[in-house]
Amino acid sequence: MKRYALIGEDVSASRSPEVHAELFREYGISAEYDLLSLNGEDARKFFREMAFRGYDGLNITAPYKREVIPFLDALSPEAAAVGAVNTVRIADSKCIGYNTDVDGFDHSLPESFRRKAASKILLFGAGGAARAVLAALGRGANPTVRIMNRTRAHAEEMAERFRHANPGGLHIEVFDAEANFSDGEAFDLIVNTTSAYFFSDEAGNLTFFNKNVQKLLKKNGILYDIKYGIEGERWKRSATERGLFCLDGRKMLFCQAFYAHVRWGNIDLERHEELDSKHKNCFSTTEEEENRDGY
Ligand code: ATR
Repeated sequence: MKRYALIGEDVSASRSPEVHAELFREYGISAEYDLLSLNGEDARKFFREMAFRGYDGLNITAPYKREVIPFLDALSPEAAAVGAVNTVRIADSKCIGYNTDVDGFDHSLPESFRRKAASKILLFGAGGAARAVLAALGRGANPTVRIMNRTRAHAEEMAERFRHANPGGLHIEVFDAEANFSDGEAFDLIVNTTSAYFFSDEAGNLTFFNKNVQKLLKKNGILYDIKYGIEGERWKRSATERGLFCLDGRKMLFCQAFYAHVRWGNIDLERHEELDSKHKNCFSTTEEEENRDGY
C-alpha cells in the first residue's frame, strides 16, 4: 500500500482526495491519500522530516509551493523554471520536486485554444499558480500575455523571470489594475489565478475586471478561473448569464493529479490520451462544457 498526502495551510475543502480515489480505482493503484492542514511552523517541521514520514509522494498547495523548495534534494527542470512545486516524489529517502500544474493547466485548455496561433491572454495574478499557467502558455505558438496583479511589483518580477527564460517566445507585458486597454482590445483567454473571484463584491477585488470583462473577451473567448468550489459558482453563474464561456479549476485539478501519478511512477505518460474521458467520470460536466471541443 502506497501513501500520499496533500499539504497546505487549510486543505479541509480540497477535492484532491476524490480525484486521487478515482485515479487509484481507474489505474489499480493500491494507496491511501491524507489531507494535512499545517500552519507555517508545523509545515516547516514536516518538510524537514518529509523523507522519513512513510510517504511515497506529496502534493503541495498554498501557501507552500515555493516554501517547500529549500527542503528538497532536487527539482525537475519545469519546477525550477516555474519556481514552484506542487508534487514531491519520495524514494530512497530523497525528495524530488515537480510542477504538474504546468501540464495540468495546459491539458485542461480546449483543443481549439491550444491550436490557436498568436493568442492573446489576460492573466490575473503573480503567485505560484500564475507562474505555472505562464509556463504552460509559453508552449503556445507566439502568445501575448498581459498580466495584472494587485501588487504590480510581483507581476514585474514574474514577467522578468519568464522573459529571461523564454526570450522571444512569449510576449509579456504588465498592466496596472487601473490601466485602460486600447480601444477594441480583446483576449482569447482571460485567466484568474488569484485567490479573489471574478465578479466579487468585496472592496479591492478585481473591480477593474468586473466592469470590463464582457468588452475584453473575444467572441468565443474563454473566461477561466483555476479555482473550484462553491464560491466559484456565483461568478460562473454571472458570467454564463452574460453569455460568456467559462471554465473553473476542476479539469486542471484532475489533470495535475494525473501527472502527479506519472511522476510518482504509477501511471504511464502515454495514457494522457485518456484524460478527457477519465475527467468526465470524476466530475459531472455541464452541458455547455460537454459541447465545447475538448470537453
Ligand atoms: P498561489 O500559489 O495559489 O498562486 P500565492 O502565491 O499566495 O498563491 O498568490 C496569490 C495571488 O493572489 C497573488 O497574485 C496575490 O496578489 P499579490 O501579489 O498582490 O499578493 C493575489 N491575491 C490574493 N488576494 C487577493 C485579493 N483579495 N485581490 C486580488 N488579488 C489577490
